[in-house]
Amino acid sequence: MSAVHAVESGNLIAGESREAASGRTFESRNPAHHAEVVGVFAQSSAADVDAAVAAAQRALPGWRSTPWPRRGDVILAAATLMEERKEDLARLMTREMGKVLTEARGDVQEAIDMGKFIAGEGRRAFGDTVPSELRNKWAMTMRQPLGVIGCVTPWNFPIAIPSWKIFPAVMAGNTVVFKPAEDTPLCALRFVEILEEAGLPPGVVNVVFGDEEAGDAVVRHPGTAAIFFTGSAETGRLIAATCGSMLKKVSLELGGKNGIVVMNDADLDLAVEGALWGAFGTAGQRCTASSRLIVEHGVLGHFTDALVSRTQALRIGDGLVDGVEVGPVINEVQLNRIHGYTEIGMEEGAKLLTGGQPARDGDLAEGFFYEPTVFAGVSTAMRIAQEEIFGPTTAIIAVDSLDAAISAANSTQFGLSASIYTNDLRHAFRAVHELESGIVYVNAPTIGAEIQLPFGGTKNTGNGHREAGGHVLDEFSEWKSIYIDYSGRLQRAQIDTDAQ
Ligand code: UN1
Repeated sequence: MSAVHAVESGNLIAGESREAASGRTFESRNPAHHAEVVGVFAQSSAADVDAAVAAAQRALPGWRSTPWPRRGDVILAAATLMEERKEDLARLMTREMGKVLTEARGDVQEAIDMGKFIAGEGRRAFGDTVPSELRNKWAMTMRQPLGVIGCVTPWNFPIAIPSWKIFPAVMAGNTVVFKPAEDTPLCALRFVEILEEAGLPPGVVNVVFGDEEAGDAVVRHPGTAAIFFTGSAETGRLIAATCGSMLKKVSLELGGKNGIVVMNDADLDLAVEGALWGAFGTAGQRCTASSRLIVEHGVLGHFTDALVSRTQALRIGDGLVDGVEVGPVINEVQLNRIHGYTEIGMEEGAKLLTGGQPARDGDLAEGFFYEPTVFAGVSTAMRIAQEEIFGPTTAIIAVDSLDAAISAANSTQFGLSASIYTNDLRHAFRAVHELESGIVYVNAPTIGAEIQLPFGGTKNTGNGHREAGGHVLDEFSEWKSIYIDYSGRLQRAQIDTDAQ
């Protein structure tokens, strides 16, 4: 395919498209048909980030003084526009990053949900009125924006994840410099264009395209007050170190090595269905992917056989084609990385039950496809049971009790999502309490979080922050405490407490 439909775009700064200062560009290509160029984008460096931060700073006074309900109106209008254009956005997403169309629709829907949810905060961003210890003294709290926020996002949820950060950021009166993943710039551009069409003033959200050079400049810029990042644990550590030395707020949403526990008393068909969806949905490229299946001995044989035969029947292909269940992985580097883990698993002595090769039959050779892969005989110490592969590979770990299952599930550095399939209430509640993760599912796989609940994880999945959920504004605003003394005289807190 040719570049006929390719979009060309500069950075979006103060509402205008601007070439990179260096004049450099990069291409976004369809991972299902690598020859197809989806768009050509500015390749940004520190100079472009300077311009974007300056634009965000200029827009800040006007936006933060815009009443909360008016800001909410803009977000609701953006969510409504996204709803009208859901199909176009989803098709674009499948072309740009490969996830199958039904899932791309889900990604856009997650952003629509977030927009509607956050828009309501415009009339609900309450502060508290708090009793004072002194007479004739009034005490209360209010929220204030942080300032210019840097958002650095991944390609696997190219509209949903930016929406989790940008909607609440602007709702709370901040302005934004947004550096989307270099694999999905067009999804990012369309998302921000919709915000501006909905009435967001120019400069409130500025987009700088590019790779880690641009991301690093956003993080290091003295003008960004806080950084919201979703990506790998390695990059997260570097960002945290930079932000730590600058005393800059940083919210990190990093890796996962999520386990589904399947107990002897589980509904086995349901568990197989859940494992299939959790492991191979989005070709396993979710931080919530079910990359470990921790199965009790009594059902191990049945579960494994059923999972393998269902896995082998999955249809791989271009996500725009009806009936395709597993799309391509994002790029060649990832494809090689995923295959590298297959080799590691075999060297470690795990048993490859199915998959384990790039899929290259017919049209598949035009893109980056990998066969859904199942390993058995995996022990918790193996690298394939410890490291995030971010591809369609899952590892079956056999256990002989609930205690062993919970300890296997907890045996990684990550703690994003975990799940248990059981029909025993006692098992379910113990798992809910004892699994070390930010999210737990009972009788559902590890993927599928909804935006009205907090999203995030324990241990090395992050640094204690949560996205989405009812407390999301706490992440994007600061509390200001206000004391109004109307006694007309000096009252000393902690000292004059008995004063009349
Ligand atoms: C991610 O993989 O980074 O819970 C986000 C889920 C989706 C979000 C995944 N709602 O799987």
